[in-house]
Amino acid sequence: MTTGCEFKPGLEGIPAAQSSISFVDGKNGILEYRGIPIQELAEKSSFLEVAYLLIWGELPTYQELEDFKNDILYHRRIKYRIRDMMKCFPETGHPMDSLQTSAAALGLFYSRRALDDPEYIRHAVVRLLAKIPTMVAAANSMRKGNDPVQPNDSLDYAANFLYMMTERRPYDLQAKIFDICLMLHAEHTINASTFSAMVTASTLTDPYAVIASAVGTLAGPLHGGANEEVLLMLEEIGSVENVRGYVETCVANKQKIMGFGHRVYKVKDPRAVILQRLAEELFELEGEDPYYKIALELEKIVEEKYGHKGIFANVDFYSGLVYRKLGIPSDLFTPLFAIARVAGWLAHWKEQLGVNRIFRPTQVYTGVHNQIYIPVEKRS
Ligand code: ACO
Repeated sequence: MTTGCEFKPGLEGIPAAQSSISFVDGKNGILEYRGIPIQELAEKSSFLEVAYLLIWGELPTYQELEDFKNDILYHRRIKYRIRDMMKCFPETGHPMDSLQTSAAALGLFYSRRALDDPEYIRHAVVRLLAKIPTMVAAANSMRKGNDPVQPNDSLDYAANFLYMMTERRPYDLQAKIFDICLMLHAEHTINASTFSAMVTASTLTDPYAVIASAVGTLAGPLHGGANEEVLLMLEEIGSVENVRGYVETCVANKQKIMGFGHRVYKVKDPRAVILQRLAEELFELEGEDPYYKIALELEKIVEEKYGHKGIFANVDFYSGLVYRKLGIPSDLFTPLFAIARVAGWLAHWKEQLGVNRIFRPTQVYTGVHNQIYIPVEKRS
């Protein structure tokens, strides 16, 4: 029996929602948040201002931004019971699994209220944006057997996260670069994790479940997990001389090269352009990363071999090199992506609630009908 619909694997090109949050033009390498080009935001804005813009649809006034920042600053700490729960996580567990569990656990502590109550929406937005970075940094300290570093009220969002990670105040340039990284990763239309957030939101469950399901989806190597894989790949390649052989082996084995290719972009991802520039700024301050030359050669050869297919560097290709220079361990690269993307997920949660209809797609059944049940003792 046919449903009359064409089946598109991965729902490629099928609109799943109407949205005014962000816009991507994959042919021309354009990304806008609420109509503002990402380059302009990266140059002039800050992560919390961008989060406000994405979630509430407009740039905040000076006072609205101050109130939002102060609210987030006030709610950065996590409850000791959450910290104690996290202490029991195995230190060998992946930080994304830890983050998914702790994000879901927030729902146990902040009781559900009416989803049409603007106060509750703000309450959840502030708590999630405030506490997710603290949980990522705390889990990192605890897996090393250390007490979590408490948030530092004299530091803003980005600087405070780096402080909780390293127990050192970052230089202004380090904090600024990390803040730009957060802006670049904050939102990107309906990708896998955002779709997962929207599907979960459409059941009218609580926002902590929405974010936990999105974190789980972001963790996969075809999505946010690629930035961690990129560094492992650069390590495996080992030297500039080995790059061509590595790419040729990938071509021969039809193996994907991490940090390249995108469902939407058919040119170099505009976020990769900015991240590469940020990596170079950091290298000027602190010395070049030994893998940067390998990365440059890899990008050149991948372009040569795959450029005709529209496969170019994506956001994950240079982010790892930036994070490594900021002293972040590679298995925290995807949690950093999540810290930023919470803003976009929350914007889609809020948008979904405004026009909600539960997601319930159809399928093309390919199984059989009218089978006879065979009792277990008669099965061979
Ligand atoms: N290396 C080599 N070939 C590639 C790559 C790559 N990184 N990406 C796509 N291709 C090839 C595929 O083999 C396929 O070739 P074919 O037509 O000859 O079979 C063609 O390009 C289309 O690839 P699909 O996987 O069908 O493209 P899709 O749009 O489904 O996938 C994706 C996009 C998942 C990002 C893919 O490019 C990929 O796996 N890249 C590597 C992982 C990665 O970097 N992910 C991060 C993406 S950005 C993000 O999620 C934040």
